[in-house]
Order: sequence, then C-alpha cells, then structure tokens
Amino acid sequence: MSQVLEIVQFGMGGVGRALFGLIVQHKAAIRSKLGVELRYRALVDSTSVLRLEQDAALSHQHLLHLWNGLKPAVRERLSRQPGATTKPSDSAVLAHELERLKSEDSGANLVVVDVSGAAAEEMIPVITAALSQGHRAVLANKRPLCGSLHDYKQMVEAAGFGLSRLRYETTVGAALPVISTLRNLANSFDLIEEISGTFSGTLGYLTTRLEEGSLYSEAVAEAKLAGYTEPDPRDDLGGVDVARKALILARTLGYQLELSDVKVTSLYPAYMQEMSLPEFMTRLTDLDKIYLSRSQEAAATGETLRYVATVKEGHCRVGLEQVLKDSQIGRLKGTDNIVVFKTQRYHNQPLVVQGPGAGQELTASGVLADILSFVR
Ligand SMILES: NC(=O)c1ccc[n+]([C@@H]2O[C@H](COP(=O)([O-])OP(=O)(O)OC[C@H]3O[C@@H](n4cnc5c(N)ncnc54)[C@H](OP(=O)(O)O)[C@@H]3O)[C@@H](O)[C@H]2O)c1
Repeated sequence: MSQVLEIVQFGMGGVGRALFGLIVQHKAAIRSKLGVELRYRALVDSTSVLRLEQDAALSHQHLLHLWNGLKPAVRERLSRQPGATTKPSDSAVLAHELERLKSEDSGANLVVVDVSGAAAEEMIPVITAALSQGHRAVLANKRPLCGSLHDYKQMVEAAGFGLSRLRYETTVGAALPVISTLRNLANSFDLIEEISGTFSGTLGYLTTRLEEGSLYSEAVAEAKLAGYTEPDPRDDLGGVDVARKALILARTLGYQLELSDVKVTSLYPAYMQEMSLPEFMTRLTDLDKIYLSRSQEAAATGETLRYVATVKEGHCRVGLEQVLKDSQIGRLKGTDNIVVFKTQRYHNQPLVVQGPGAGQELTASGVLADILSFVR
C-alpha cells in the first residue's frame, strides 16, 4: 500500500507552475519508484483557490487538462480555471483542508508547499498550523523563515525534533544542497566556524562585469536586459534578498537573530530609493566613478570585488567585499552561486557547494526532492 501525501500549494507563479507540471507528469513514476502517491488537493494564488476534490485529485486526465491551462507558456490565471473560487484567506484555505482531512480519516498526510511570494505574516500562521497538527511543510519562499524570531521559533518548534517535518532547501541556492549540507554537518557534530559565499546570480554577474572593466551603470543595465534582475533592479542591488538567505543559514545554525541584525550594505545610496525607476536607471552613472575606483583598488592588490554573505560567530553581514582573485569566491564568475563551509573538520580545505542558484525549473525540482524526502 502506498503512502499518500496530499499537497496544498500556495503560489502559482513560475516555480509553482513548474512544480505542478513536474508532479503531474511524473506522478505514476513516483508511485512505482518510491511507493508514494502525491495528490494535489488545493492550488492557491494571491486571490483564488482551486480545490481538487477526491475524484479529481485521483484523475490523471483532470490534472493533465488543468496543467494544459496553467503551463508557464500559457500563463492562464488560476481564477479562470473551472471550479476556482475567490480565496477567503490563506489560513482559511488551510483550515478547510485540515477539517476535510479529519473528516475523511484516510490516514493521508498533508504537505503545505509554499512557492509563493507571500509575506511572512500571511504564511507563518498557515505553516505553523499545519506543522502543529503533525503535517509537513516545504518552502521555497524565504519570507516565512525571516519573520520575527518569536514567530520563527514557534514555527520550527512545531516542526518536531530536528525540524523533521519542515524542509526549505531551495530558499538558499535553489536546488543546490546547501541547507542539507549544513544540517548534515551540524547533526554530525562538526563545528561550523564560518559560512561565506555569494548567493545572488544577479550580483555575481554584476561583480564579474566590474572585474572585466565594465562601468557600474552599464553592468546593471546589461543585467536588467538579460533578465537577471527583478523588474526594479533595486530589489537586487539593495542586498535584502541576500540578507534573507544569510539569515536562514544563521537561524538554521541556531543563531538568535532578527533580519534587522544582518548588516546589509546596499549597492546604491538611500536617496536613490525614492526615485522613479527610469530616473534611477539614468542616475546610475553617478555611481560609476565610485565602483570603478573600488574595482581598480582591488585589482592593484590581486583582489576583486564580490557581493559576499558571511555568517560567523553569531553575526551576519552582506555587502561588497574585496576577496583574493585566487580564492574560491574570487574565482567564481557569472551568475553561479557558491557557499563555502569552513568547519573544524573542513578547516584547511573548506567544503564548497557551487552551481546555478536560481531558475524556476531547478527550484521546482528542489521542492519536489524536499517533498519526497518525507517518504518513509
Ligand atoms: N524563481 C527562482 O529561481 C526561485 C529560486 C528560489 C526560491 N524562489 C522563491 O520561490 C517563490 C516563488 O518564486 P516565483 O519565481 O515562482 O515567483 P512568481 O512567479 O512571482 O510567483 C509568485 C506566486 O505567489 C503568489 N502569491 C502571492 N501572494 C500569495 C498568497 N498570499 N497566497 C498564495 N499565493 C500568493 C502569486 O500569486 P498571483 O499570481 O496571484 O500574484 C504568484 O502565483 C518566491 O518566494 C521566490 O523567492 C524562487
């Protein structure tokens, strides 16, 4: 008899749709290979919910039909799918699913999958409620893991010993094995002295272009054109996304930090935050001189600039730093991520995880791996 995992998925954007497609297409193979039946029970976006009742949840035809309407290429809104209704709230969606599960008494386990861009305040209550009732959660969304320390602690306490019912591998470095490596090191009683790395493909690209002699304004414009940045590049250049990743690593290590404790150095001055996007893009040239001279200073001593996150001795910082060109971080070029674990056992030669740290398909594959890690 197969184990049944019922999925309630929050988020139907790029990652959410890629995950839905992956599961629909490989459902039968997952059942025969791993003996687990994955059943979608609800799909949720910012405004709508689509519940898949028992029969539909089991019908491959129905899921394929749905997938045809929701594929990233089609990008039909969830609200346009037959049966979709307006969402009361994320918590109400979950409460309904928990009630249903209780009344069906089928022995199935629920997995809350958060592949949304929702705020911590919206998702923490949902995830904590599911975990408190013995269910499971998988997150690609960093925000719930970066809420207040109080809420974070409640959430992880609800996840059971060793966070056994909570997975969030893809929040740092997408499908790269960063969180699992950290947990394995800590669980095998290695002493983690320092975690450092570059966790942003966008900022990796930018610093590589600076090293190659590009002007800052040109490099940002190129990255935007290539689709590496958020629509507003300030969301990348401000460093908050990297700070969230550093905080997730720090909290996983047991550091009692708030997001505001992470020292973040932005790549643009505060006064530029108020500008319209076109004005910001035009005024980027104001910063060219500063970054050109920083780049030249670094080169003069065999160093280069990288946007580095460091988690060490109870503290976290993220910002532009000079690193040796011939170091692990200095050698990394382009959009790849790198995470360097310096530990008591990996002291002289730190343990390195490196590769593409973003992408909807890659992230979806990491989320699926997290879901399947619950299979007994
Ligand atoms: N893309 C990557 O490479 C990558 C890598 C690692 C982690 N992540 C994380 O994975 C998450 C999804 O990324 P994405 O690229 O798929 O983003 P996206 O395309 O912007 O999709 C975000 C989705 O979240 C939904 N959403 C927003 N608020 C919600 C709420 N309260 N309840 C339910 N759904 C809500 C949005 O709904 P609407 O469509 O209605 O607005 C949308 O469907 C993000 O947290 C991101 O940081 C992404």
